[in-house]
Amino acid sequence: MELTAQYPSNIALVKYWGKKGQQLPCNSSLSLTLREAHTRVKVTYEQQHSAQPAFQYFFEGQHHPAFEHKVHHYLKAQPEFQTFLAHHTIRVDSENTFPHSTGIASSASAFAAIAAVFLKLSQPNLSTAEFRQKGSRLARLGSGSASRSFYGPYALWGELAGVPDSTDDYAIPIEEIHPNFQAMRDCILIVEQKTKKVSSTLGHGLMKEHPYAHQRFQEANHHSKNLLEVLQIGDFEQFISITESEALSLHAMMMTSKEYYLLMKPETIQIINTLFEYREATGTPVCFTLDAGPNVHLLYPESQKNEVHRFVESELRPFTKSLIYDQMGVGGQVF
Ligand code: PMV
Repeated sequence: MELTAQYPSNIALVKYWGKKGQQLPCNSSLSLTLREAHTRVKVTYEQQHSAQPAFQYFFEGQHHPAFEHKVHHYLKAQPEFQTFLAHHTIRVDSENTFPHSTGIASSASAFAAIAAVFLKLSQPNLSTAEFRQKGSRLARLGSGSASRSFYGPYALWGELAGVPDSTDDYAIPIEEIHPNFQAMRDCILIVEQKTKKVSSTLGHGLMKEHPYAHQRFQEANHHSKNLLEVLQIGDFEQFISITESEALSLHAMMMTSKEYYLLMKPETIQIINTLFEYREATGTPVCFTLDAGPNVHLLYPESQKNEVHRFVESELRPFTKSLIYDQMGVGGQVF
């Protein structure tokens, strides 16, 4: 017997950086769900009555003891999955559809897919709404950002004053989107392919004693609130301003934590400056954001695709190792 889930990654426009309690965010975050960058997780299982059924994890065809340990530990900790785990021998095969070692974080798509497939196996009769809500919460317990991959094209995670249903427990979909933001593209410019030196877990931890933590959490909530409105009214100028400010604030937190560090590379800065010049000269609505790494995401509406791709190929490609043209998506599926 087997069941597969395929879930996409997402890119935060308002960043989650700093956590408390059981993987709860210190501020709200708001993201764009991607389409091409996703993880596929296949679970092959057999009923088993022995005391300790086997659990194996393969990543891109290879047995992966480190992921096996991490994922098994995560699954065993969730009461929802315990009965299924106790009664089946399980083999998990996971693969990312984005190219190997691009430096793109895969924890969001991976934990969304893992939570989704095990939830379906454990509780097959949930309604779509219940499945997404529970799945988002369970994915959050694996990796915070994974909670947002259950919805698309836009999702909000974290309690936000004045926004009904917003909660730290799971992400919710953002329903009211102006046509200007209903067809967005994301060109991911890969500057470095190596895995990042400082993990997100460590980065979140450094926010605990960060001198600017309080202001940062307030600023992020303020940005979420404003961005929700901007997405409704279709104001691209404000979208650019909030998104870029968030990306730089995230990296500013890294540079100003007690154990400071820098994840941007010279090429990251060259890309950002070239983009600023291009936007100044042409007025094209395109902006950047950054993950917790040196790679740059360029966001622009579908209507600007040809124009932006010309710019990317002629002016930005020299700064990159590779690039991925992605676009917004609607979330994942189990099949
Ligand atoms: O989900 P985590 O624990 O890998 O943290 C993700 C943090 C950022 O990607 C930098 C921001 C975000 O909101 O996705």
